[in-house]
Amino acid sequence: MKLDPRRENLLRHTFVDFHQMADFIRNPLIFDRAQGLYYWDTEGKRYFDAIGGIFVATLGHGHPRLLEAMRRQMEKMAFAAPLHGIADITLDFIEKIGAVTPGNLKYVKPFSGGSEAVEAAMKFVRHYFKQTGHPGKYKFISRYFGYHGGTAGGMAASGTGARKTKFEPHMAGFLKVFPPNYYRDRFSSWEECNRFTARMVEDVIVNEDPETVAGVIVEPVGNTGGIITPTDEYFRILREICTRHNVMLIFDEVITGFGKTGSMFAAQTFGVTPDLMCCGKGLSSGVIPIGAMIAREDMAEAFWGRTEQDVQFAHGHTFAGNPLAAAVGIAAIDEIVENQLDLKARRLGDYLVARLEELKRFGVVREVRGKGILRGVELVKDTATMEPFPELGKALKRTALANGLIMRIDPSWFAVAPALIANESDLDEMCALIEKSLADALEEVTGSRPAAYASAGPRVTS
Ligand SMILES: Cc1ncc(COP(=O)(O)O)c(C=O)c1O
Repeated sequence: MKLDPRRENLLRHTFVDFHQMADFIRNPLIFDRAQGLYYWDTEGKRYFDAIGGIFVATLGHGHPRLLEAMRRQMEKMAFAAPLHGIADITLDFIEKIGAVTPGNLKYVKPFSGGSEAVEAAMKFVRHYFKQTGHPGKYKFISRYFGYHGGTAGGMAASGTGARKTKFEPHMAGFLKVFPPNYYRDRFSSWEECNRFTARMVEDVIVNEDPETVAGVIVEPVGNTGGIITPTDEYFRILREICTRHNVMLIFDEVITGFGKTGSMFAAQTFGVTPDLMCCGKGLSSGVIPIGAMIAREDMAEAFWGRTEQDVQFAHGHTFAGNPLAAAVGIAAIDEIVENQLDLKARRLGDYLVARLEELKRFGVVREVRGKGILRGVELVKDTATMEPFPELGKALKRTALANGLIMRIDPSWFAVAPALIANESDLDEMCALIEKSLADALEEVTGSRPAAYASAGPRVTS
């Protein structure tokens, strides 16, 4: 799209997340409106939103039920200061979340975003151990390539090298291990690689001294490394290790929560219950900023006392438990539960995988991975050497936008997570755009249009 001088000037007065602004201005995207599976820019061009905003609009943009819930609540009370009390609707929200979480994960504190939820979870765990006779437990183990937020604690737990090094030194007490995909070519089986990388977490805990380790925080499906999808056994091993050493297992479900992976939470998809979960994104489908820290109900008992002077969990945010967010969150969960959208994610996910597997005919796809509707495609120069192909991903960023398609591209892989309102024909439309964009990108990078595209072509062209 073209920029008029006013917008160009305004773009020089802000920044767009994780973009080099001079580059963004050369190839800008200014959204005007969004509905369902689509965005429109200020020139009226339509984009298929293949990633639900950014893993957010799980129910599509501007879902009418969610907007109506917010409208009703807005007329009653838009804000209630969490320093003075709690909105009644926020209590309903806490009950609603507790009804869909696994195990006894019923202790809920709502926030305004994923980073707030992660930050709160880590503070809660450190404080919990001080309350329960283990004051030396303060370290967190997380994974390289993981992302847990832009705030100081979230960034310290994240393993996204280049994004973090500019801000060093980070908070103390954060250790990293590698996710399974890092070592995959060194093992004869993916299962064995998963076992090895999970067991390595125990080696770290033991060598650090378990009395210093508070938690292990992982994304069940890791976005930033390219939709890293460990085996169920990987999480079972982590669970056993954490239990053995009295270390809290924290699932960062900011992306994976609320239906995408084929269950309400990825914890259920992988069949492992953590001690805490951090949520955000899809919980409001993007209608309002939202987040939630969810912990084992018995952990809260460490903060109960007899008098006002007894210890409290001293933490808060002005917009925590916001009544508008609570109303939207309740409506979002009801919509997912009533329509069994988690089961739909499984069904649609199978269809999506089959369509994405067809991209292998281009000869540049190593693997299609993920769970449910949350899928990633890894790009390689050739499927014999498996050498990464970042130039292709960079070109794909341009061609996708030109073709009216928004995905997460980073640049040796791309991810999609279309909203659960989609049906098979929507996925056909999306996959046709992906195929065309990939063919265009390959033509840009290699100088010739892939014959595989010309022979099969897209199934749907508009
Ligand atoms: C796994 C994960 N955790 C935490 C966050 C931080 O959430 P927010 O951007 O809402 O603060 C993100 C954001 O992308 C995320 O993907």
